[in-house]
Amino acid sequence: MSAAPASKSSLTVGILTSGGDSPGLNAAIRGVAKAAYNRGDVRIYGIANGFRGLIEGNARLMQPADFDGILTLGGTILGTSREKPYEIDPSIRDTEAGRRKPAAVRATYEHLGLDCLVVLGGNGTMRTAYQLERNGMNVIGLPKTIDNDIFGTDITFGFQSAVEVATEAIDRLHSTAHSHNRIMVIETMGHRAGWLALYAGVAGGGDVILIPEIPYDIGRVVSHLRDRVALGKPFSIVVVAEGALSTSEVKLKEEERESQWQKAGGASVGYRVARAIEEMSGMETRVTVLGYLQRGGTPCSQDRVLATRLGTTAAEMIFDGRFGRMVALEGSCVVERPLAEVAGKLKLVPARDPTVQTAREIGTCLGDL
Ligand code: F6P
Repeated sequence: MSAAPASKSSLTVGILTSGGDSPGLNAAIRGVAKAAYNRGDVRIYGIANGFRGLIEGNARLMQPADFDGILTLGGTILGTSREKPYEIDPSIRDTEAGRRKPAAVRATYEHLGLDCLVVLGGNGTMRTAYQLERNGMNVIGLPKTIDNDIFGTDITFGFQSAVEVATEAIDRLHSTAHSHNRIMVIETMGHRAGWLALYAGVAGGGDVILIPEIPYDIGRVVSHLRDRVALGKPFSIVVVAEGALSTSEVKLKEEERESQWQKAGGASVGYRVARAIEEMSGMETRVTVLGYLQRGGTPCSQDRVLATRLGTTAAEMIFDGRFGRMVALEGSCVVERPLAEVAGKLKLVPARDPTVQTAREIGTCLGDL
């Protein structure tokens, strides 16, 4: 963790948002800025489009008014990208070309005269934040993702809003599934972690919930659906995380899976599960992929509060010179984690997660038993 800057009458702060957007980003930006302006004499640069803006020197001196009226705005007023300046092809790492992006990042940081850079993003962003610190820059990370898969924080802003969107969708699909006596497969986001599918599935009353952490046996899924029919329930809701894998797929290498899926037409997991259900059971099945609906729109109230709390804590850390850390939530407390301890680490759904247990206790099929 970096040392505090020499005490200055005025601090200069850069803010950027990186990776997939999510509800709450603007609430967090607003929290950092308003708290910083209230703490003392500060200049804030908004850096455009994530780390690409740092590389290109694309930054704008913000005014206090720029942070008014953005609490409820989805997305990010700064723009974002998935640029990762320190992920360099090993074949050019030690060449001028390989050094271009890291050098440009450093040059922009110095040209703007930054005392600190606040970066909002997911796992990849926190990894880049740590590399910034290791390259001598003062950085604070704010964890953001609808996937809630960032190690070191209980919840990320964006997650609850996405759960709300997915739950409302599942609620709506219940009525049409019931009316048509159909199996409705709803595919949520969550490429590596199943938190979103798990929470929306429980909240929405999903009969089957499939997540990446628990490889599913499609035979068990179909058997569960048939049992429901025998109980007089000829419709079911199947919630699937986009990264869910079958027990056979999990044994393959990633490239083998991708090749197998491409040969079968390239359909996403929701369609693959639906096809298998129809072929094995004859039950009429339909698919809804929620996609980017889960990333868009205004943040829910919990995300607005969480994002604001994290943002104001970042402002405190800036003025106190506490850098090289990620702001996090532990229970109801906002805490700080050294980037060295959390950078790039995933938080996956543990097998004995309480919410997994809750789902099992109400008879939800997780595809494994
Ligand atoms: O990381 C959040 C996320 O929404 C994942 O759930 C999803 O798989 C991915 O981003 C989509 O990435 P992109 O926005 O680059 O298509």
